[in-house]
Amino acid sequence: MSEPKPLALITGASSGIGAVFAQTLAARGYDLALVARREDRLRQLADLFGRQFNANCTVLRADLTREEDLRAVEIFLTGATDFEMLVNNAGFGTLDQFSGGPVESHDAMHRLHVLATMRLTHAALRNFSKRGKGDVINVSSVAAFIPNPRSTSYYATKAWINCFTEGLYLELKNAGSQVRVQALCPGFTMTEFHDVLGTGRDFISSKWWMSAEDVVQDSLRGLEKGKLFVIPGWRYKLLVACTRLMPRSVLHFALTKGPASLRRERVRQEKPEQT
Ligand SMILES: NC(=O)c1ccc[n+]([C@@H]2O[C@H](COP(=O)([O-])OP(=O)(O)OC[C@H]3O[C@@H](n4cnc5c(N)ncnc54)[C@H](OP(=O)(O)O)[C@@H]3O)[C@@H](O)[C@H]2O)c1
Repeated sequence: MSEPKPLALITGASSGIGAVFAQTLAARGYDLALVARREDRLRQLADLFGRQFNANCTVLRADLTREEDLRAVEIFLTGATDFEMLVNNAGFGTLDQFSGGPVESHDAMHRLHVLATMRLTHAALRNFSKRGKGDVINVSSVAAFIPNPRSTSYYATKAWINCFTEGLYLELKNAGSQVRVQALCPGFTMTEFHDVLGTGRDFISSKWWMSAEDVVQDSLRGLEKGKLFVIPGWRYKLLVACTRLMPRSVLHFALTKGPASLRRERVRQEKPEQT
């Protein structure tokens, strides 16, 4: 009898980075549990990966901002056999100002980026404890390293993902655990993200756009090396390094009163920036 395959659960698997994680992991011999709201998309991908890679795919239609859907995915994770990898990837951006606008999109973003990531990671760790190993990849953003007055909830929730993953990394290390965790921090990536956001892609030079395939390859290479933070692409590594070296007061000036900010504000009327 053949060895059972390891199982990976990927949220936001219906497009973009999540769909590429699913394809790459299926090609590497994983069975998949695919989570998102667009069930038709998930079923198409499940059929494709079944045919291409002989992967056994479970489709879990869920809106992870809804308590009952999140609970159903948690229950699935808790009981899943041969479960080895969780990719908390589902996410979206908004262009609402925090003050003045409606609270609903901020509420949904916190539920998806923060609560769903926390609850599914907890369920995954309980499952991993049976075999003492497993992997969690939390998809964050370079935005996590840089505050931004124009997209407060997005930057704040991605910063939370980094802090949460780092705390967990240290907790697991202290406990001598084999479980690996990673915060994946991409920059601008060619997916449906900016279509959902309603912006074009011309607001920034094509050099800054990465493919979802490159982002996923960097993530999985980083996982093998046990890297906590993975920032795909040299441009973004450099940007984050410079931002970290900059005194906070200088960064705040640049983001509020600096010429770059004023120029960006003019450009942003039609072409907002967010990763
Ligand atoms: N693209 C970028 O430039 C970029 C840069 C940095 C970080 N990221 C991060 O990368 C992750 C993946 O985004 P992407 O770029 O691949 O964008 P994408 O193509 O729009 O994919 C987003 C995925 O999240 C799912 N999703 C959204 N809301 C959901 C909900 N309430 N419940 C369940 N699933 C939900 C979507 O599926 P359904 O619509 O079918 O539910 C879709 O599968 C996000 O966390 C994003 O913040 C993206």
